[in-house]
Amino acid sequence: MSDHDIARDGAGPSGTAGTGRVCVIGASGKLGRYMVRHALDRGYRVTAVCRDKSVGKLEEFADRITLVPGDTDDPEVIGRAVAGCDGVLTVLVPWGVHGYASGTAQAVLDHAPVDSRLVFSCGWHISRDGRDVYPLRFRVAAAVVGPLARLLRVVDVKDQVEACRRIFASDRRWTVVRGSDLEEGESQGLPVWSRHVGDPVLSSNLTRRVDFALFMVEAMTDDSLVHEAPAIVGCRTPSALARTAGA
Ligand SMILES: NC(=O)c1ccc[n+]([C@@H]2O[C@H](COP(=O)([O-])OP(=O)(O)OC[C@H]3O[C@@H](n4cnc5c(N)ncnc54)[C@H](OP(=O)(O)O)[C@@H]3O)[C@@H](O)[C@H]2O)c1
Repeated sequence: MSDHDIARDGAGPSGTAGTGRVCVIGASGKLGRYMVRHALDRGYRVTAVCRDKSVGKLEEFADRITLVPGDTDDPEVIGRAVAGCDGVLTVLVPWGVHGYASGTAQAVLDHAPVDSRLVFSCGWHISRDGRDVYPLRFRVAAAVVGPLARLLRVVDVKDQVEACRRIFASDRRWTVVRGSDLEEGESQGLPVWSRHVGDPVLSSNLTRRVDFALFMVEAMTDDSLVHEAPAIVGCRTPSALARTAGA
């Protein structure tokens, strides 16, 4: 384990207790709750941030987590929540048209402890270097649904793009996990990943949400993922299995 690795309860990087704290930002959503569960299962102490009105969605964890209610783009809320954390898991969502995703990312980049591991979620539509090759269906959806959703002032995909631009430009210890289409269901194991959409291993374009969360939590202790934007797919999907068979 390197000095930067996240340690679980009672076994910090320097052998001190109490260094295994993880903050889940956007904890009340589906992905967030899976991440809280995985983190608790692994022995981390968990701080969770969610909007005031969504606190009830975390009821099942109430006696096991520290809850910080508030908007995730509020620097004061984030500053309080991430203090003393070794890892910060952030759900970046494009909801609304007031810069919620970029505000959330900026608050985390500004306030997370210097050596903490920062892991952000988004979708395949985010491209780090422009070398992703998208299926036609994906390009049509981006061209039609994106502008329409913004027109209706529901979703602003460009804001999620801006959030990731800021993360990619940062020298913090970040990973941006890019999810495929998602489905519910039992865990199948850690998803496989590639640097670029268009890699045949990703062509099944489906991941269980519970395993997306697993990848986010495991990324905190995987130094090979620092400054990477892995695009993921379920490890039991046909395209992932085809690669395994080929290998
Ligand atoms: N859905 C997909 O098919 C898909 C595909 C690929 C990648 N992803 C990525 O996966 C992650 C999780 O996405 P998800 O779709 O599965 O959602 P999710 O886990 O259910 O989370 C939705 C989050 O958005 C928040 N939210 C909802 N309405 C909001 C609003 N008006 N203003 C501010 N916040 C609001 C929710 O907070 P409350 O609990 O307070 O409502 C919750 O934290 C995201 O990073 C997304 O980009 C999703």
